[in-house]
Amino acid sequence: MKKSFVGCFVALVLLAFNVNVPAQDGPIKVGVLLPYSGVFAGLGNEMDNAVELALETFDKEVGGRSIEIVREDTETKPNIGLAKAKKLVFEDKVDVVVGIVSSGVAGAVRDFMHKSEVPLIIANAGNDLLTGENCTPWVIRASFSNSQINRVMGPILAKQGKKKAFLMAFDYAAGHQMMDAFRETFVASGGEIVGEEYPPLGETKDFGPYLAKLKAANPDVAYVFFAGGPAIKFVGEYDAFGLRGNIPLAGPGWLTSALYLAKQGQAAVGTQLSLNYVPSIDTPENKAFQDAYKAKFERGASEFAVQAYDSIHLIIEGLKATGGKTDDKQALADALRNVSFVGPRGSLKIDPKTNNVIQDIYIYEIQKDGDGVKPVIMEVIKDVQDEPNGCTM
Ligand code: PHB
Repeated sequence: MKKSFVGCFVALVLLAFNVNVPAQDGPIKVGVLLPYSGVFAGLGNEMDNAVELALETFDKEVGGRSIEIVREDTETKPNIGLAKAKKLVFEDKVDVVVGIVSSGVAGAVRDFMHKSEVPLIIANAGNDLLTGENCTPWVIRASFSNSQINRVMGPILAKQGKKKAFLMAFDYAAGHQMMDAFRETFVASGGEIVGEEYPPLGETKDFGPYLAKLKAANPDVAYVFFAGGPAIKFVGEYDAFGLRGNIPLAGPGWLTSALYLAKQGQAAVGTQLSLNYVPSIDTPENKAFQDAYKAKFERGASEFAVQAYDSIHLIIEGLKATGGKTDDKQALADALRNVSFVGPRGSLKIDPKTNNVIQDIYIYEIQKDGDGVKPVIMEVIKDVQDEPNGCTM
């Protein structure tokens, strides 16, 4: 009774002085869940840079409320990722969670995010199930699905006359989903898989034994997914083993990400790739983004940065649509899924059937560029959209 009287009195005083009373008090809390350590730490740190840049670019305040970031390290481990998601929701009481690089971590947090009814914006992890048979209105993906990036390459390599492929990827959800997506379209286009190897997720000390098996299988193409430190190592060893030039190398673009392509250098030349972003995309949106990233971090930005930047952009637009209100979680999730814009990678919209992003996929090749190397776009596949794959919203 006393409290409500005091509350009314305060409200009347604020009104009398014409003070703008926000719909809700306090900051909007955004939980950022990234690998700041572990095998994907480099990817996580790049994405963290882009979170900062996006807040500076799009607004740190919506509806009179400031946006507060709470960071947690998944360590690229599913059990740690789940524990950190719970901490963000229960202790920090975040309004929305964004991030997650690994499909393993994404798989581990899915049920918790679903039950807690706090929206999660996935900024990397491609786990097909989360926008397929395990989809939920509470998980929205602004990055890609593993199938979306990889299935486009089957017909392209088959059309080049490649009949036999050897697959290699990290042994976890993403590695298997990517290879399965490629296998499906490559085989449907008349190709054959002549061998496959799945090294454990983590820093592989030596790809030699795997490369020996690949060489012995003598395929027309090696189709490979690695990312981060292991990708740098794999591409270097592929070259050192004398395989480059003899067995063409192809895969999803993280194999030679802009984040570490310069480190791979000439060893990456000739690699054929597919991805949702290439730094050389010639649009005003991409130029503005790359210029701003360079000005702040003294180097160009990769696809990992773009995905984090677009995810924060999406959250800010979603919050603008609710006037900065976050108490009605259902309304917030609906607003987030309805956001669309043209960003550095092109047009981005969320598929209402799956909550996965619909986007262009770039097919490109690494070519020599003076003393360095650069990706050269060969083809753009417009508005690539997943089938519902068992998703009913
Ligand atoms: C994933 O686990 O979904 C994943 C991780 C790193 C990448 C791409 C996908 O570069």
